[in-house]
Amino acid sequence: MQDIDALRNEILEQVTNTGNLDALEQLRVAELGKKGRISGLMKGLGGMSPEERQTAGPALNGLKNDVADAIQNAKDALENAALDARLAGETIDITLPVAPLAQGTLHPISQVLDEITEIFAEMGFTVAEGPEIENDFYNFTALNIPAEHPARQMHDTFYFDADENGERKVLRTHTSPVQVRTMETSKPPLRIIAPGRTYRCDSDQTHTPMFHQVEGLVIDEKTHMGHLKGCLETFCKAFFEIDNVKMRFRPSYFPFTEPSAEMDIGCSRKDGEMRIGEGDDWLEILGCGMVHPKVLEYSGIDSSRYQGFAFGMGIDRLAMLKYGIPDLRAFFDTDLRWLRHYGFRTLDVPTLGQGISGGSS
Ligand code: DAH
Repeated sequence: MQDIDALRNEILEQVTNTGNLDALEQLRVAELGKKGRISGLMKGLGGMSPEERQTAGPALNGLKNDVADAIQNAKDALENAALDARLAGETIDITLPVAPLAQGTLHPISQVLDEITEIFAEMGFTVAEGPEIENDFYNFTALNIPAEHPARQMHDTFYFDADENGERKVLRTHTSPVQVRTMETSKPPLRIIAPGRTYRCDSDQTHTPMFHQVEGLVIDEKTHMGHLKGCLETFCKAFFEIDNVKMRFRPSYFPFTEPSAEMDIGCSRKDGEMRIGEGDDWLEILGCGMVHPKVLEYSGIDSSRYQGFAFGMGIDRLAMLKYGIPDLRAFFDTDLRWLRHYGFRTLDVPTLGQGISGGSS
């Protein structure tokens, strides 16, 4: 037993003094390897009397375990130290000087989206989202556009191939499906906007197959057309940064609202320059109306108790109007020169507080 204790002390001291992984491995082989010292002692157990073995067996096993643990711990410590040293050597300074940042710009759509969100947030709206790949129910049926309804043709829909159940998904043609999804999952009163990408098979100077819309929805017990007008007027004043905005509501038709209207704002076009808010011309900027009772019912809302208004507008078009951008297709051309010209410097973006177009470049 004394021999074993002495041996343990000797080996553990060697482990402590071993300063590198190779030497440690050599030590392990010399003691615990097949031909190692401790393995040799273990082999000797076979030639012992049962009594001898009863004390020597556990003692040798204890020695073997202690040595193995000590070597493993020393190995872990050496490996950790090596990793720390490597990490310290590979540190990179990820802080950037401001100059390169100033080269990148925020796309006008992101900028306008932020402005719209900020204005509606001030009025108590939250942002809701829905999928861009929609099913027929949310994109059409629940919005009171049943199969064969002529309004479906107006949407120039991109259809997916039928899935195993024969269902054909669509790329959502508008953000209105988010109305239904929100009403299904949340209880009134509701006040949301749903900005996002929308798709239609259409392309010319003012249409691209992918474009952006923002949907608005307010549901409460006593909501009426006056609230709709007030809300949109507040929005237009803040967005176009004008104190007075001439507005007109033209009766229109959308299957999901009744009554339905299109809203125009006054403008003037002089010497190729457009001024928004006053003048003798009109500019159509959005569709709106009181949510059709059928849409409320499809969405699980009691239409005898609740009603509300909705509106939908094109974000790209709002960006073109506000920042004087002539061609919609250029928005998605990823032309760096265009982005530098119409984009917004990241550290200098317009905000509500500063006057939102104050920082436009
Ligand atoms: N979804 C309509 C479109 O894409 C826009 C719209 C019109 C949305 C009237 C509305 C609404 O919520 O009330 O043409």
